[in-house]
Amino acid sequence: MRVFVTGVNGYIGAVLAPYLLERGMTLLGLDTGYYRDGWLYSDNQSLAATPHTLNKDLRTVTAADLEGCDAVVHLAELSNDPLGQNNPVVTHQINHRGSVALANEALRAGIGRFVYTSSCSVYGAGSGVFLDEDARVNPQSAYAECKVLVERDLGVMAGPHFAPVFLRNATAFGPSPRMRFDIVINDLCALAWTTKRIAMTSDGSPWRPVVHVQDICEAIYRSLVAPEHAVRGKIFNVGQNSENYRVRELAQIVADEFPGCAVSVGTSGSDNRSYRVSFERIHRELPGFKCQYTARDGARQLHALFERIQMAPETYQFRAFTRLKQLTYLQSTKQIDGEFYWR
Ligand SMILES: NC(=O)c1ccc[n+]([C@@H]2O[C@H](COP(=O)([O-])OP(=O)(O)OC[C@H]3O[C@@H](n4cnc5c(N)ncnc54)[C@H](O)[C@@H]3O)[C@@H](O)[C@H]2O)c1
Repeated sequence: MRVFVTGVNGYIGAVLAPYLLERGMTLLGLDTGYYRDGWLYSDNQSLAATPHTLNKDLRTVTAADLEGCDAVVHLAELSNDPLGQNNPVVTHQINHRGSVALANEALRAGIGRFVYTSSCSVYGAGSGVFLDEDARVNPQSAYAECKVLVERDLGVMAGPHFAPVFLRNATAFGPSPRMRFDIVINDLCALAWTTKRIAMTSDGSPWRPVVHVQDICEAIYRSLVAPEHAVRGKIFNVGQNSENYRVRELAQIVADEFPGCAVSVGTSGSDNRSYRVSFERIHRELPGFKCQYTARDGARQLHALFERIQMAPETYQFRAFTRLKQLTYLQSTKQIDGEFYWR
């Protein structure tokens, strides 16, 4: 199977490429390279797998770019809530319209399987009860709104020639060469490593489901190889029920894995995004899928990685490892224009 992977130079993409190559797939990548300044570490696995990649913006992809591919995995978007809030207009342009245009080009190119990386953030502000895929969505940001719109617009395209699959990932964690320190566990681990203190100003009460980046790759792989009837037009929450935590519980898990690290929680209210998610459907209906890792495993792996590379505080703070910082830098230095195209 030849797979077209957008966003292959991102946090998930850099782990997904070797994951799919090891399983016998060939890849063609696409990425505009917003975060290419950041590469945290090298090892045999990540170096062996740099697929041929089109250095192109998602919004300019045509069916000709997709020629010879059998499936699409679409990761290339502005990838979190703060990024989306920073510029809702461009967020809609890339994340919603760019994604729908890509799906249309895939259909024109005769590609049937289209795996879309949605997010559990579509659930927004929940009440603490377990939400499954049929629960009402409640997006709280332009980022989450776009995820809902793409699911809706691609959902109606599902038919005999087109099988979109919607993976609503929990918040990812774990090592990737294209590291992100703006997602909760990775951030807490880097804080623990560099300062030996996790001082939260908020009370850490919101619920957050989390999932290891390798388990996201497994869900993508299983969505690519599953029989069409098992996945066409389906939404799957990606994660496992036991990995729903309150943020303060995550902080404690991280502190346990970074000996000598102290945790303190504050009193102020935090943001209103809080959701607890049911992951029963994916384990029941996506053939072969099973999560392997817990938050504690991820914290342990990150500790081992930081020790191996002797990660410095400046590395944790480096702009390319925090998506909003890097895009702000690219804008303020006029490397990208108001619509986030390279100048
Ligand atoms: N990481 C998570 O916790 C998480 C959770 C749920 C869903 N997701 C989704 O998974 C996908 C990948 O997430 P990630 O964490 O790897 O994000 P990331 O920001 O690390 O990677 C996104 C990649 O897409 C590229 N890109 C962005 N806009 C582009 C454009 N207009 N044209 C071409 N390339 C473009 C970027 O250069 C980057 O390499 C995103 O759609 C994200 O919303 C991620």
